[in-house]
Amino acid sequence: MTELRRLIPNAVPHLAGNEWKYLKECLDTNWVSSAGPFVPRFEREMAACLGVPHAVATVNGTAALHVALRAAGVEPGDEVLVPTFTFVATVNAIVYCGAHPVFMDSEAVSWGMDPEKTADFLARECLVKDGRVVNRGTGRVVRALLPVHLYGHPCDVDPLLDLCRRYPIALVEDSAEALGAEYRGRRAGADGLLSCLSFNGNKIITAGGGGMVLTRDAGLAARVRSLTTQARGDALEFVHDEVGFNYRLSNLHAALGVAQLEQLPAFLASKRATAAFYQEALGGVEGLHVFTEAPWARSSYWMPSVLLDEARSRDVRALLRGLNADGIQARPLWRPLHLQPVFHLAQTYRLELAERLYARGLSLPCSVGISHDERQAVVDGLLARLG
Ligand SMILES: Cc1ncc(COP(=O)(O)O)c(C=O)c1O
Repeated sequence: MTELRRLIPNAVPHLAGNEWKYLKECLDTNWVSSAGPFVPRFEREMAACLGVPHAVATVNGTAALHVALRAAGVEPGDEVLVPTFTFVATVNAIVYCGAHPVFMDSEAVSWGMDPEKTADFLARECLVKDGRVVNRGTGRVVRALLPVHLYGHPCDVDPLLDLCRRYPIALVEDSAEALGAEYRGRRAGADGLLSCLSFNGNKIITAGGGGMVLTRDAGLAARVRSLTTQARGDALEFVHDEVGFNYRLSNLHAALGVAQLEQLPAFLASKRATAAFYQEALGGVEGLHVFTEAPWARSSYWMPSVLLDEARSRDVRALLRGLNADGIQARPLWRPLHLQPVFHLAQTYRLELAERLYARGLSLPCSVGISHDERQAVVDGLLARLG
């Protein structure tokens, strides 16, 4: 086994470009807060990267989701269909709107929200009344679908888009983990009415913290911008006709974001190389399944992950503890949110796979700067612990 000299972190920032230069520019020019040239530049360059016309930077990805849902028309008392298998922020944003999550299952190929079961829920459990989708069981309006592109892999978005054409319902994408991924040749996160990114420290690129809402709709972009800036209606006077939020990104953070975005192709190449290394080394191991991309997808491999066979799933917790004790920061997959105490009363629909993915899986170290020896040490450590 390759000797480990230090901790192999799960996913840490890689600051290898113009980060210092652009931050110094902010300090030298006195633009350190929410005004300053890097904010619109980051928005413009990210919009171009995803091929959508409008982008609004936010203080983090959770705030992006909150204002995107608000802009999509999610009101207090509404419902949003969302996968249970995701990070808590996705669902917290629904609750910030005063709305209720209805938890959908995952599908086996992409681990994303299951389009068939979602269609089934809408057909069997809902009715369309006065131009609205109403959940028969709760009497509440179902306002939006909020699928998530998990671990860098796009979810199967076309059938979900189709549902949004058949029903008066909005598609908001949580693309926090999938910057740079592709769905059937298109950039993942460019299809929904609105789509949200995160630039948290462990994401594909980081701004030290930050998020962004993307949309093709100029009116929605203006609404999101207003919500993020305390809903100030006049550039000079302090006039507010609704309650907004202080969700703007600072110029300092945007400067980091711009520098990181310049390196996106290299970062994606590193992520893919790490995933390919793990696939090559672990693909043939009995009892282990490496999460790879669907034929219609190009994953950004934000976090390469593996599943143990069903029969060995009870070993996963011990494996996670053992690897971390060895200095290999493996992570559990997302604990399904319907199992969380805070959401235990939420409605669920035909959940089968999500809990199995959680029980069987773990994510492996994948920082952009990870070395060949570290990748090898992760593989050796995993194989040794698997026995
Ligand atoms: C799927 C998902 N949604 C939302 C977020 C929230 O982003 P942030 O941490 O920037 O608020 C994250 C990551 O943190 C995430 O992984």
